[in-house]
Amino acid sequence: MNVVILAAGQGTRMHSNLPKVLHLLAGRPLLAHVISAAQSIKAQRIIVVYRSGGEAVRAKFETNPQPSSAPITWVKQEPQSGTGHAVQQAAPFLDDRWPTLILYGDVPLIQQNTLSRLINAADGGLALLTVELDNPTGYGRVIRREGLVSRIVEHRDALPAELAVKEVNVGIMVAGTTQLRKWLGALTPNNAQGEYYLTDVVKLAFDEGCPVAGVQPDHVWETLGVNSRAQLVELERRFQRVNAQKLLAQGVGLMDPERIDVRGDLICGRDVLIDVNCVFEGRVELANGVSIGPNCVLRNVSVAADTQILAFTYAEDSTIGASCRIGPYTRIRPASTIGKEVHLGNFVEVKASQIGLGSKANHHAYIGDTEIGSGVNVGAGTIVCNYDGANKHRTIIEDGAFIGSDCQLVAPVRVGKNATLGAGTTLTKDAPAGKLTITRVRQSTIENWQRPTKKSPSR
Ligand code: UD1
Ligand code: CA
Repeated sequence: MNVVILAAGQGTRMHSNLPKVLHLLAGRPLLAHVISAAQSIKAQRIIVVYRSGGEAVRAKFETNPQPSSAPITWVKQEPQSGTGHAVQQAAPFLDDRWPTLILYGDVPLIQQNTLSRLINAADGGLALLTVELDNPTGYGRVIRREGLVSRIVEHRDALPAELAVKEVNVGIMVAGTTQLRKWLGALTPNNAQGEYYLTDVVKLAFDEGCPVAGVQPDHVWETLGVNSRAQLVELERRFQRVNAQKLLAQGVGLMDPERIDVRGDLICGRDVLIDVNCVFEGRVELANGVSIGPNCVLRNVSVAADTQILAFTYAEDSTIGASCRIGPYTRIRPASTIGKEVHLGNFVEVKASQIGLGSKANHHAYIGDTEIGSGVNVGAGTIVCNYDGANKHRTIIEDGAFIGSDCQLVAPVRVGKNATLGAGTTLTKDAPAGKLTITRVRQSTIENWQRPTKKSPSR
């Protein structure tokens, strides 16, 4: 299959400097969704037609190629003289051995099943996707003769009787490539907009006796396009609702399917529970029995079985072990590995650190560039001073250590096995195993000390 993705439209109504197809839907550019749709039907060739000024689009996809994508050919359309003109630009790159599917870069929710049915219906000829709309204003109308699709008339060129037709052209079509080439060569811009209309291939096909199939999508929402911010957010909500229903169908417990946002891949085991207002970005894996409290953000995180993530936790690019209790209000920054049965509590920040089996930091702590063994207790207010203003250094806290409250560990430093640090210790040298280390000034009381009193003002 050849797939041509039309993406040279201007996107004026977005009122944005970002090319329209780079706007994000569920965390991915619109165009990425369309490329995924092309991959889902096993495209051998993908040709994207873009406009001058749209180099950002090309650059974005060339620097971050999509995994396992067919190679993408980028074709610039200049000037933008219509959808037919756009496909003409792509024609030299089509392989005649396969049919050609036309997609729009700004119609991101089209699904594999609908495309497969459209491709089958084309059967070497022409097939287009149509829907019935109560308000067909602006769309090309599908004109049928004795039930057969005979041509498409654009809104601006339509006669009053044609304007009354509610069946519209979605814009997505499949055609045999040799015929398509021929039809493209026969297009003329004799219409209200002076453009080359791709839709005119329908009449050319019909007049030749080539059957034209009109196919309806599984859902109308698959065919909705993005022309404005309002439509973008409408599709975002649509996507999220559909995705939430898929999760429920898999057995994931959602407190409210209207209040979850998945911007990437969320992979869940059995008996996963997710409370309201959580955002999942990138690839997030939640193993069996994991529960996520309200208002959490997880980005590229894997969470092992039976761990509880409590409200307002923010975690990214990290691994969290089984049977942990994280949060409320914990922040886990990239490159952290949290072992089994770890407890991290409120206002604990962890960065690029490993925390071993059963260790705990329950309140107000910063743990950065640190390796913590098993069974360690980090007291409230403890800070690892990993940064000297120029370089970062590592801290090691061995198994069974007890870090009293409000300690500062000035890295690089090591706390030995089963060592104890007294509260308020500022550790600048290694603390030996099994011993109490403390740097606090010894408590003393000054006898006969007098608190100063305010002098009476002089008159
Ligand atoms: C087109 C169809 C219309 C259909 C409607 C569905 C034609 C002539 N009309 O209308 O029948 O009901 O889509 O939304 O095809 N594009 C280019 N280069 C161009 C012009 C457009 O790449 O020169 C791309 C746009 O980026 C967009 C798509 O083609 O992805 C459709 O363009 P748009 O201007 O929205 O098409 P309409 O005129 O609304
Ligand atoms: Ca449009």
